[in-house]
Amino acid sequence: MMKMVIATGNGNKMREIREIFADLPLEILSMKEAGAEADPEETGTTFEENSLIKARAVKEVLAAKGAGDTLVLADDSGLEIDALDKAPGVLSARFMGHDTSYDVKNAALLEKLEGVPEEKRTARFVCAISCILPDGTEFVKRGTMEGKIGHEIAGENGFGYDPIFIPDGYTVSSAVISPDEKNLISHRGKALRAMYQELSGKLKKES
Ligand code: IMP
Repeated sequence: MMKMVIATGNGNKMREIREIFADLPLEILSMKEAGAEADPEETGTTFEENSLIKARAVKEVLAAKGAGDTLVLADDSGLEIDALDKAPGVLSARFMGHDTSYDVKNAALLEKLEGVPEEKRTARFVCAISCILPDGTEFVKRGTMEGKIGHEIAGENGFGYDPIFIPDGYTVSSAVISPDEKNLISHRGKALRAMYQELSGKLKKES
C-alpha cells in the first residue's frame, strides 16, 4: 500500500486526517513515525505557501532516505481578523511569541478590537492543505470558516483562538460547540474533505 506522510507532530491533526482518509488505499504515518522530521522556517506570506514549504521539507528528507515514492501532506492555518488587516494571519502561531498563552493572546486581540462595531468584527479561520505526489506533482486545497470576533473569552472545548471566535450561524464561540460539530464546519475539515475528493480521484485512476 502507498504510504502518506503527514508533516505534523500534532496528534489531533493525525486523528482527524486518519478519520477523513480512512477508505483511501494509503498507509498514513506522521513524520515522526516515518523518521522524516523537518521543521522549516515558515517564510511564506500565504497559508498555501507555508503549507507547501512544510510539505517540500518533509519530501526532501524522505528523498534523502531513498523513500521518495511516498505521498506527503502538510497544512497551515490561522485566523484572519478583517479590522486588523487580516492579522494575525500566517503569524497566528507566532503572534506575541510561541510561549505566550492563548488567554493572553486572545485578551490582547479583544483589546485591539475595543470599540469596533459588530458589523466590522468579521473574521475567518483559514486552512491550506498541500499534497506532493510521488512524481513531484503538487496541489493545494483551502478551507475557511467564516465568523466574527466576540467580546469575551468563552468555552473550554477548543484551542488557540477558538474562545473568541463565533462561527457564522452560531451565538457561541467555537470553543463552546462540540469538537465533532466543529469538525463538520471547520476550515481544516473543509480543506481535508476537498483533498480527500482530489486524492480519491487520483488514486482510483492509478489503480
Ligand atoms: P499551524 O497551522 O499548526 O501552523 O498553527 C496555526 C495557528 O492558528 C494555531 O497555533 C492556532 O493559533 C491558530 N488556529 C488554527 N486553527 C485553529 C482553530 O481551529 N482554532 C483555534 N485556533 C486555530
